[in-house]
Amino acid sequence: MTGKGNTCVVGLTWGDEAKGKIIDILAPEHDVVVRYNGGNNAGHTVAFDGHTYKLHLVPCGLFHEGVGLVIGGGLVVDPQVLLEEIATHEGVAPNLKGRLRISSRAHTIWPWHKKTEALSEKFLGKGKIGTTLRGIGPAYAEKANRVHAIRMGELVRPEHLKKKVQRIAEAKNREFQAVFGEEPLDPAAIWTEYAAYAEQLAPMIADTTALLHEAMAGGRRILFEGAQGTLLDIDHGTYPYVTSSNASAAGVWTGSGVPGRAIGRVLGVVKAYTTRVGEGPFPTELANEIGNQIREQGHEYGTTTGRPRRCGWLDAFAIRYSAMVNGLDGIVITLLDVLGGLPELKICTGYRVGGEPLAAFPADPQVLAEAEPVLESLKPWTEDISGATRFKSLPPAAKAYVERVEELVGAAVSIISVGPARDQTIFRR
Ligand code: GDP
Ligand code: IMO
Ligand code: MG
Repeated sequence: MTGKGNTCVVGLTWGDEAKGKIIDILAPEHDVVVRYNGGNNAGHTVAFDGHTYKLHLVPCGLFHEGVGLVIGGGLVVDPQVLLEEIATHEGVAPNLKGRLRISSRAHTIWPWHKKTEALSEKFLGKGKIGTTLRGIGPAYAEKANRVHAIRMGELVRPEHLKKKVQRIAEAKNREFQAVFGEEPLDPAAIWTEYAAYAEQLAPMIADTTALLHEAMAGGRRILFEGAQGTLLDIDHGTYPYVTSSNASAAGVWTGSGVPGRAIGRVLGVVKAYTTRVGEGPFPTELANEIGNQIREQGHEYGTTTGRPRRCGWLDAFAIRYSAMVNGLDGIVITLLDVLGGLPELKICTGYRVGGEPLAAFPADPQVLAEAEPVLESLKPWTEDISGATRFKSLPPAAKAYVERVEELVGAAVSIISVGPARDQTIFRR
């Protein structure tokens, strides 16, 4: 098995690192783009020719004719959202339905998942996770529990589906009524709605594991599109303030059926600063004027939920941990343009707890919440770099910033993004 041409693009922090832009740029060097984790909690942006496109489930290679698109078995798919997304982009993405294949192993999101999550977050109050409320967590929980889960492949067996929906909805209704005093869901209405989705999706549902292995045997190159980021990974992230899937490169194997050793190159994407949406510790957070300035200059409002993103300094200590977990080959720095004009510039090089330096990125959320970032000041720049196409032409302070990130993380920066559009990109090595 050779994986030389296969690439994985993964977020190194808490999501929204501009993975969508990078996938769109790298897609032409590949034959298939594969989503392997998460669901429509993801919001990936692609911008070109003056238009901005937001994707939640369809892989960001869609705008390149001839590139295959796979929604892997590791996802939880909301069929309604997927169909809406296909309808929205069909006009600009040639032969979208003909190129998109959805794994029969992927799990599906149902109204009871969204209702369960809304109730859970509401009752947690201040202690909530701050999820996207898309039903992601409950759908993965049911997958692990096996009793009330429905896979994509089951959608195309109408009689089986009807009985299963009836059984699950009845069980859920007992729970909603007894525990929460909530109105019951209508199983017949839900089944009718989903039967219609199933009919439209049926031609796209396939054994994508087999398809990907056939593609690789034919020498075709695969691009894996991570959703969320390593610090939101259910196993390696800042648990419990994480998502419910393997958002790191570790998810490729389970989420696509392609062995990890078939990945030739892992590229980790980071913003030139850090953002986080939802709850959970964030040591370099700037709850001050500079944080607000970054939010406004970077338009840091969620692609999926529109929530303002929390902003802070680049956290090289956390990124070094993410680089290790992913087996990183190269770094992509995005939104470097946003730092221009800030009155000061800092990078976090480590954490202290009770005055003592930490040897490693902590697993305990309490320790992370207490961690004081050790900050190093770098020279800011005022120039607008959004038109730069070569590393050489960046202001010396911006070059020094990139080089310092390389040193601290221990990996080379191969791509720099200085604006949302395709041509606002610097390729280095
Ligand atoms: P993803 O979830 O990792 O794909 O990232 P999002 O799409 O949620 O958020 C990234 C945002 O930054 C989007 O609005 C992009 O259009 C925008 N963007 C991408 N690259 C750059 C860049 O280099 N500079 C600026 N200013 N914006 C960028
Ligand atoms: P992309 O792919 C940023 C966050 C939520 C919440 C936590 C759990 O666009 O980078 P969930 O709904 O997944 O159970 O929420 O994870 N979150 C994201 N944050 N970018 C994302 O995706 C995210 N997907 C989930 O805000 O804190
Ligand atoms: Mg996003």
